[in-house]
Amino acid sequence: MRALVMTAPGGAANSLVQEVGEPEPGPGQVTVDVAYAGLNFVDVMTRRGDAAYATDWPHRPGKEVSGTVRALGEGVTGLAVGDRVVAAPVGAGLAEAVVAEAALTVPLPDAVGLREAAAVPLGLATALLLLTDAGHFTAGDTVLVHSAGGGIGHALAQLVPLLGGGRLIGTVGRPDKASAVLASGYRHAFARDEDDEKLAEAVRTATGGRGVDLVLDPLGTETLDLDLAVAAPGARIVLFGNAGGGAVADLPPLARLMAGNLSVTGFSHRGLAATAPDRLARAVRRVVGLLADGGLELPVTELPGLAAVPAAHDAMEERRATGKYVVRVGG
Ligand SMILES: NC(=O)c1ccc[n+]([C@@H]2O[C@H](COP(=O)([O-])OP(=O)(O)OC[C@H]3O[C@@H](n4cnc5c(N)ncnc54)[C@H](OP(=O)(O)O)[C@@H]3O)[C@@H](O)[C@H]2O)c1
Repeated sequence: MRALVMTAPGGAANSLVQEVGEPEPGPGQVTVDVAYAGLNFVDVMTRRGDAAYATDWPHRPGKEVSGTVRALGEGVTGLAVGDRVVAAPVGAGLAEAVVAEAALTVPLPDAVGLREAAAVPLGLATALLLLTDAGHFTAGDTVLVHSAGGGIGHALAQLVPLLGGGRLIGTVGRPDKASAVLASGYRHAFARDEDDEKLAEAVRTATGGRGVDLVLDPLGTETLDLDLAVAAPGARIVLFGNAGGGAVADLPPLARLMAGNLSVTGFSHRGLAATAPDRLARAVRRVVGLLADGGLELPVTELPGLAAVPAAHDAMEERRATGKYVVRVGG
């Protein structure tokens, strides 16, 4: 079968579509024939060689797929060969078939298309968990999202109205991405090319001086001072990435958190998949339900095949990409 293989850390030149062996499910696992796979920034961080992603090379990327169950491993119940599913494999999902834990494989109702479903196991589930479990979002909250123009940013714009509505403020690395952010449902979009004080002032003004209730920040600690500067009393700041890949600073002094009744917390999809798969699967099921009801629609850009993925990873790495990308793999 064919799969995307990252041969060594680097750029697109090291990402090749190659013939690889067919995967076999172990106990508690299933093999999924992949119809569509989602692209995620973690693939880019991995190929860049960021610490703690790929431990050996060549590496097989891909952490979210939709498709049909091809085979069941020992002890798997509740799933059958031929079921339409979404799954969050540990990796290797950018391939014609992949093995995933049955605990992280969720059946799809007929009403949900395989194309849109490929954005669920990592992208949409992460966006939901950032708002709910990690961010304690309540209807009416003002939410500041950094890197709002990407897959997670767009997913958040779809989910906030379904959770009761709120005021979304996004930041982007390049001014030309602001229009896509506004079109996706954000009320304000600011480029991070200004100095932090001017940006903080713009965010405060956008909130009538009150500040934001929730910050969703995938930028390591690059913008943590800004987050603290615009946090309303009682705000939650969720750190969920390190897009720049550099060293991260210490967390803020206790006194600053106590004075503002602020909380800073972390979120990791990979951590949840490893330690609390039931919580992750619950989020996947909830998102699938929202898609089936017709309440949730996430526009996706479809790539025609695995060979198109390295160029899309380039666009993500160079900050040119907007929205969510999925690749058509099988029938
Ligand atoms: N913790 C978790 O479990 C988890 C799960 C999913 C995603 N994430 C994180 O959430 C973020 C969004 O993920 P996504 O898959 O939807 O990707 P994405 O937003 O489609 O693409 C990544 C974005 O990161 C921003 N970025 C900031 N600094 C960058 C740098 N130095 N180099 C390249 N890009 C940079 C760029 O947007 P701007 O320039 O506009 O900021 C870029 O478009 C990523 O940082 C990802 O790692 C975390």
